[in-house]
This record gives sequence, structure tokens and C-alpha cells, in this order.
Amino acid sequence: MELIVVRPEEFGEAAMNALDRALAATERPSLGIPTGSTPVPLYERLAEITYCFPPGSVCFALDEYVTARADATGTNAAFFRRHWPAHLPTVTTPDAGAADPEAAIAAHCRAIAAHGGLEVVLLGIGRNGHIAFNEPGSERDAGCRVVTLAEETRRAAAADWPEGAPTRGMTIGVREIMAARRAILLVTGPAKAAALRAAITGPVTATLPASYLQEHRSLVIVCDTAAWSSAALQ
Ligand code: GLP
Repeated sequence: MELIVVRPEEFGEAAMNALDRALAATERPSLGIPTGSTPVPLYERLAEITYCFPPGSVCFALDEYVTARADATGTNAAFFRRHWPAHLPTVTTPDAGAADPEAAIAAHCRAIAAHGGLEVVLLGIGRNGHIAFNEPGSERDAGCRVVTLAEETRRAAAADWPEGAPTRGMTIGVREIMAARRAILLVTGPAKAAALRAAITGPVTATLPASYLQEHRSLVIVCDTAAWSSAALQ
């Protein structure tokens, strides 16, 4: 595990450097891409310098909401339309409004598998230690599936869902995350400090799915001083 701690204003650049190092080691990567406020400085930096991925790169969303309002601004598809750099390969998302969400996430994961799995997985972390939409209780071998979202996760998303966040999501599993050749965990802000500390120093447990990353073969954590100093002080 490699830990990179930077000042908040340096976070986008540091995350980009970590991604750049991961991509340098590969020729035709498939990437798993997160939503959330945490990766936005990275996406802004990639756009600013027109950063290029290796030719043939493919990008897959880690997760999506299940909603009848597939055109809602809170979906991950809408997030990527707002925040993902236009010059980079489009991020494939499972269909939020699919009549059969199980089939939608299964098709998404088959597409990932067809590319040989994920070469690089970028991750955020929920305050409750979730990764993608693998909520507390997710087992180490949990695969791609439809999940019930934790109340805390729905509350965190409330600003994007004025009529209330969906109760269900679709996610790649802990299994697909752990199978990725390289993982980069992005963490910012004091509100994530407890989850970060537990993920790195606590027991590996389904209660905190991010703790599985302790066993990942190639994990780089990029966090800001706000997340790290609060974590270190607890
Ligand atoms: C959502 C996403 C996760 C993300 C998390 C943290 O639950 N499904 O992939 O890591 O939010 O979001 P934020 O970065 O806004 O704290």
C-alpha cells in the first residue's frame, strides 16, 4: 500500500499523477471510474491539461442508481455528462432506468469482463466505508449486483435528488474491485477521516468494505491533509 498525503489544493494534481503512473504501466487499459465530489478535482485537472489516456482505453462507471427517473440530474450518467472531460473516452454506465436492473448490471459487468477485467480502478469511499455501492455487509466475493442503498448513502446523495434518493443501486462487486490490477483510493475532507482510518488500520471486515483494500495487490491511496490529519489524530 502506498499513501500519498497532499494539501487540499494539490489533490487534483496528486490524483492525476497517481493515475498517470498506473496508466504508464499498461497499454490498453480498462478503467473503473467513480462519481462523487471527491474525484471532481481530478477530472477538472484531466480536462485542464487535456490529459490523454492510452489509445484504446475504455471507461466503465463503478455504479449507478436504480430509478424510474432515468433523466434525473442525480444519476451517475448525468454526473459524467457534467464532470467527465469531453475529450476522454465516454464512461459506459449501466442503464439507470432499465426495466430489469439485474440484467443491466450483469451486461455492464460482462462488458468489463470482455476487456479482461479492470486494469485500473479509481475509488472514492463513503462515510460508512462503502466502495462503489458495496455497502457495509458486502462480502469479499460479492459480485456485480443490485443493492439496497444504506440510509447514510441516500442522505449523502440528497442534494442531487430533490425528491429523495433512490433506494436501490447497481454496482460492480468487491470481487471486481479486488481483481483490478491497480486500485487508487481517493479521500478528501475531515468527514472521511474515520472511514479512512478504519479502512487502513482496522480489521478487514464486511462491516467496512473499504477495509478489503488492505489485501489489494496494488493500492495507492491519495488523500488530503484534512482527511489524513483527522484520521491520524483519532
Ligand atoms: C457514492 C458513490 C461512490 C463514491 C461515494 C463517495 O456513494 N457510489 O462511488 O465513492 O459516493 O462520494 P463523495 O466523493 O461525494 O463523498
